[in-house]
Amino acid sequence: MLFQMKPRFLPTFTFTVCALAALYLISISCTNRHLIFPASEFFYPLLKSTPFSTHKISDPPQATHSRTNLSHLVFGLIGSEKAWHHRKAYIESWWRPNVTRGYLFFDKAPSPGLLPWPETSPPYRVSDDLTELLNKSDIRAQRMVHGIMEVLREVEYENFRWLVMGDDDSIFFVDNIVDVLATYDHTKYYYLGGNSEFILSNYLFSFNQAFGGGGIILSYPLAKALARDMENCLKRYVFLNSADNTTRACIADIGANLSPQKGNHQIDFRGDISGLLSSHPLSPLLSLHHFDMVEPIFPSTDRFESTGRLMEAAAADQSRMLQQTICHHRQSNWSFSVSWGYSAQIYERIMPRSYLQMPVETFKPWIRTPRPPNYLFNTRRPSRDPCEAPHAFFFESVERKTESDEILTSYSRAWPRDLPACSSSGNHSADFIQRIQVFSPAMKRNQVRSLKYCYC
Ligand SMILES: *[C@@H]1O[C@H](CO)[C@@H](O)[C@H](O)[C@H]1NC(C)=O
Ligand SMILES: *[C@@H]1O[C@H](CO)[C@@H](O)[C@H](O)[C@H]1NC(C)=O
Ligand SMILES: *[C@@H]1O[C@H](CO)[C@@H](O)[C@H](O)[C@H]1NC(C)=O
Ligand SMILES: *[C@@H]1O[C@H](CO)[C@@H](O)[C@H](O)[C@H]1NC(C)=O
Ligand SMILES: *[C@@H]1O[C@H](CO)[C@@H](O)[C@H](O)[C@H]1NC(C)=O
Ligand SMILES: *[C@@H]1O[C@H](CO)[C@@H](O)[C@H](O)[C@H]1NC(C)=O
Repeated sequence: MLFQMKPRFLPTFTFTVCALAALYLISISCTNRHLIFPASEFFYPLLKSTPFSTHKISDPPQATHSRTNLSHLVFGLIGSEKAWHHRKAYIESWWRPNVTRGYLFFDKAPSPGLLPWPETSPPYRVSDDLTELLNKSDIRAQRMVHGIMEVLREVEYENFRWLVMGDDDSIFFVDNIVDVLATYDHTKYYYLGGNSEFILSNYLFSFNQAFGGGGIILSYPLAKALARDMENCLKRYVFLNSADNTTRACIADIGANLSPQKGNHQIDFRGDISGLLSSHPLSPLLSLHHFDMVEPIFPSTDRFESTGRLMEAAAADQSRMLQQTICHHRQSNWSFSVSWGYSAQIYERIMPRSYLQMPVETFKPWIRTPRPPNYLFNTRRPSRDPCEAPHAFFFESVERKTESDEILTSYSRAWPRDLPACSSSGNHSADFIQRIQVFSPAMKRNQVRSLKYCYC
């Protein structure tokens, strides 16, 4: 690593981390997917016991082995007319007009204030009214599940391979989704998505379920099978009041199960999620959700500014987003942790990587619980011990260095740590450092196969 020492008396001190090696030290490991079994004949009598939906769903495309790209994905976003007024910015932060395909489904027609409909938003549709079909007045959950069929009804793209269902406050990282989906066979049944981070949510709904805010990703043949059986499925599980749970139940009846993804985030937390985003698993970031429910993710910003800032980094390189690099500076006994495009920390002692990979519990659980465990991962407790508390830096800017073919991200100090130096590791205070710069190659993370460590 490059250690650009500048005199200590300069007003801003910049620490340059050449994070080259470690960022791709652990290259994308999306090979641990689970085999999904084809539709079980066993369930066919059940599926056929009541009439099929009358909506015509086209046949799946011919299997083709060209690499999956964004044009093969169709998005189905389920929103409410009321919430759209303030949630629009979340979707528009990642939606690419004329490039991403799909529809936004509203519970009712948009009010005049939302019209004319902007080109920057996904085209909208109004969901079918299911109250009569299901003889039920509260059809909120069923509307979302039925959305799967309604998207398929709209699209007749010949190259359609994957359906990505989300909420009106789901933020998707579409390039990473494409990269992950490209490793799966789209002609088989696949049901991908993430668990809730909060143990109790999984316990109450299912540990085997994709939580919809983080995205429910279905291969075309599975989406089609689900759409074909949609009305029966909704009737079969009409007593369930959760869309995600109903979707899981219907998919299980077809014969498929969840292939969990570590990059889909339901974000079932409250408060400050910076601890989680600073120790993300080394898996491509696919989605973030519940931005209305948590504090803005960058200091001194509102929710939309912080979404926009995150997307600035994502525009430069999605493959490295939130990927954690840890390295040590032996001369001062410091540990660096960088979450690319989001944050950086300096700890004033040498800490093992396995330790720094555990998120600091800056957040609160979704629902107050009497005692841990709350999360599907281990955490570190926030601390005011000078040997434990980090100096916190947050992503500020990104720059492409064409001459060296690198991307430079800068992270600036969020607040003074306001603690003495860690004396047991030599009293090397990092108080004077104001900014950390990280150089990474202008090449996708998964294309770099180096096994060197980053060395400070
Ligand atoms: C995506 O793949 C299809 C082949 O299935 C190809 O025709 C198309 O040009 C590709 N699109 C992009 C943007 O690469
Ligand atoms: C999308 O495509 C249409 C027709 O090709 C074009 O008129 C419009 O300007 C495009 N919109 C954007 C935002 O690129
Ligand atoms: C609809 O529900 C009501 C009460 O929940 C019930 O009385 C009625 O028989 C149901 N109708 C049908 C067609 O199932
Ligand atoms: C989820 O579905 C299962 C049946 O598959 C049911 O036992 C469970 O109660 C449901 N959970 C919720 C919260 O609806
Ligand atoms: C670190 O500094 C503190 C107070 O400034 C002092 O008491 C301690 O002895 C120092 N430790 C080392 C290892 O230099
Ligand atoms: C680093 O910390 C160890 C104790 O953990 C100490 O023995 C060593 O002298 C320190 N090195 C420096 C350069 O301060």
